[in-house]
Amino acid sequence: MNGVSGAMKAMTIKEGLFWAREALHKACERPQFEAELLLAYHLKKERTYLFIHENESFESVKEFKKLIQRRAANEPYEYIVGSASFYDIHLEVEEGVLIPRPETEILIDLVSEIIKKENITRIAEIGVGTGAISVVLARKFPELRIIATDICDTPLKVAGKNIDTFGLNAQIELRKSNLIDEVPEVLELVVSNPPYIAEDFLLESNVVDYEPKEALFGGNVGDELLKQIILDVKARGIKYLACEMGYDQKEPLQEFVNEIDVKSIRFYKDLAGFDRGFVIEF
Ligand SMILES: C[S@@+](CC[C@H](N)C(=O)[O-])C[C@H]1O[C@@H](n2cnc3c(N)ncnc32)[C@H](O)[C@@H]1O
Repeated sequence: MNGVSGAMKAMTIKEGLFWAREALHKACERPQFEAELLLAYHLKKERTYLFIHENESFESVKEFKKLIQRRAANEPYEYIVGSASFYDIHLEVEEGVLIPRPETEILIDLVSEIIKKENITRIAEIGVGTGAISVVLARKFPELRIIATDICDTPLKVAGKNIDTFGLNAQIELRKSNLIDEVPEVLELVVSNPPYIAEDFLLESNVVDYEPKEALFGGNVGDELLKQIILDVKARGIKYLACEMGYDQKEPLQEFVNEIDVKSIRFYKDLAGFDRGFVIEF
């Protein structure tokens, strides 16, 4: 029943969902839900269609089983369907670019408060990925101009597509750069969700086997890139820096900024109560 080879008979939607749920139960926390999402994607229908038409047959069973088997092998759902839901939008994703995470929405809200309070119009983002942060900020603040960097080509390509989709080319400029090395412009704020995981940290298969290493690992200890960003932003005389970080990095980063001259550092937590980032005013 689990194979995908050979000619395959049509199945009803109900049978397809049953098969898929069984195939997904090891890889997914919510196998029924993911089976429904993937069948709806496969049939190009809304999820609710499945419930109303459960006795209807579909022919392309082999292709559907291939999708399910990719997910059963831990490939993230977002790479399979090529899209990720983030904040109030859907962003295109593909292998080679980090799938945006819900906790990053908190970073956007904190940065939005500062932009509003200080009337900020010139910022940079380090490590643009899909463009998640820059696209949402540009949509919220039509006056905002963003220079968004990445060192890898795939994120720059994918971010470019997402910027096009939302018609934000006049607001966001992409630039291949290590951190802000290639951004000499005057800036008021830098935002970043950089790679911050320690190289030997054990990640789940759906992350480590599929998502790009350049987006995950920040160095031996993990916070090396974060510390470099702090130093670079300070050296450039930029007033604000807002970054996401790892749940165990508050103490070392607090010690690090104690050694340099900053006006204030405010750490924030994610919705699960873990330390998740900081805002520095220099
Ligand atoms: C954790 S991902 C964040 C992506 C996106 N901003 C988000 O929040 O979903 C980090 C990104 O930083 C990029 N990156 C890694 N090292 C970098 C560096 N030295 N300079 C610029 N970008 C870098 C990676 O390629 C990756 O796209």
